[in-house]
Amino acid sequence: MTDTLLPAPKKLFIKTYGCQMNVYDSDRMADALAPHGYEPVQAMEDADLVVLNTCHIREKASEKVFSEIGRLREMRDERRLTGGDLMIGVAGCVAQAEGDEIVRRAPAVNLVFGPQSYHRLPELLARAHNGARVVDTDFPEEDKFAHLPAATKAVTRSRGLTAFLTVQEGCDKFCSFCVVPYTRGAETSRPLEQVLREAETLADGGVRELTLLGQNVNAWHGLDARGRTVGLGELCYRLSLIPGIARIRYTTSHPLDMSDELIEMHRDLEALMPYLHLPVQSGSDHILKAMNRRHTAAEYLAVIDRIKAARPDMAMSGDFIVGFPGETDEDFEATMQLVRQVGYASAYTFKYSIRPGTPGATMDGQVDEAIKTERLNRLNEQINLQMREFLRSTVGRTVPVLIEKPGRQPGQIGGRTPYLQAVHMDGPERLIGHIVSVEIVEARNNSLIGKIVTDVERNPVSVLESQASAAQI
Ligand code: 5AD
Ligand code: SF4
Repeated sequence: MTDTLLPAPKKLFIKTYGCQMNVYDSDRMADALAPHGYEPVQAMEDADLVVLNTCHIREKASEKVFSEIGRLREMRDERRLTGGDLMIGVAGCVAQAEGDEIVRRAPAVNLVFGPQSYHRLPELLARAHNGARVVDTDFPEEDKFAHLPAATKAVTRSRGLTAFLTVQEGCDKFCSFCVVPYTRGAETSRPLEQVLREAETLADGGVRELTLLGQNVNAWHGLDARGRTVGLGELCYRLSLIPGIARIRYTTSHPLDMSDELIEMHRDLEALMPYLHLPVQSGSDHILKAMNRRHTAAEYLAVIDRIKAARPDMAMSGDFIVGFPGETDEDFEATMQLVRQVGYASAYTFKYSIRPGTPGATMDGQVDEAIKTERLNRLNEQINLQMREFLRSTVGRTVPVLIEKPGRQPGQIGGRTPYLQAVHMDGPERLIGHIVSVEIVEARNNSLIGKIVTDVERNPVSVLESQASAAQI
């Protein structure tokens, strides 16, 4: 008998920047390369191929990429002294927006490819291995999702109880500060059946909580088997019927796409979590208009009223930009006022950053950096106050918690409330993956401390009682 020597596996490291959609995309890239002999490794230093999956949303994000490429080039040069080598790939939105610039500024990079090319990665890599410098940043007609391998069972098992699932990509809204419509292209929805099949695979792999992703996720729409158009609310309902899927979240939403169907689903569907990321960016109508958000502050607040009427305990989250061109002290005060009125449970805040090619970049009235910093600090202070207030408001309540992992100390476990708050508590590790009733006893700075009351899921008996009866047997 002769042994056939398989080629040694090639080692892959993907460094992910930016949003959750990039996290999802990085996983899909790893899935696409697995059949071609690429194994993920934990450390960049061990890899034969390093892919930087980049983010272009703000200036600092893209500058970081160029300095990382510099470090990788040094690593490659050192290896070449001893006969080794390193392939360097740049993916994601910087690649899409600045592909030619990367090729010019960073000759060490072997391949550059945008978010619409991930399914072609094996082929692009083969070309790069033959010595070509490959750039692929087209927006092809074909559907990348139809060609990308869906999450595989083996892969999902190692990825835990919560998973991201991209259902929608791209954006047609063209907010005047934002590069997404240029880097991610036109708004597209993944077909209903494709999403359901991928969710089933994730559930089979042990996933209990899905976060549906899209730049404009609530604009998702698809066709059911009878050819009827269905929206995100119906998709959530269908997903909730998949055995194992207990919780559904989605992000990011646009206020104009918050349909009645979706809002009603928040009232009727227990699996749909009461936490909503609904960016407004500014509280000033004059700035909202300049941002091309296509709604006023009052219209945004009216959407929240409709949501709270359906689901009074909805925790709100948002995004804010300070220092957009033309923003006066008065405009900023209107943002502060809106923040106080909504009472956000959390929010992301940014200084306006010029993105070349967007309308905002050439607008008059660019705001001084020092003023941006001062406004950002004031806004952050207010939001931190509200975040802590929101954490405290949960103390004394008993809420279902999905137990996700062992705690920091032995005998402890950790999970999340429906409102996405982290909770730590004493409890056995066998509860990981279960939804357990937890009384919140204390609020810390960024998390909660809880006490298990019952194992609510398919087990009406108290955990403590069942432990006691097990001991009696
Ligand atoms: N400058 C600052 N923040 C931005 N965002 C998007 N583009 C910019 C920019 N040019 C923020 C918005 C958006 C979030 C994802 O990033 O708040 O909702
Ligand atoms: Fe960018 Fe969101 Fe506006 Fe689309 S809706 S342009 S992704 S900020």
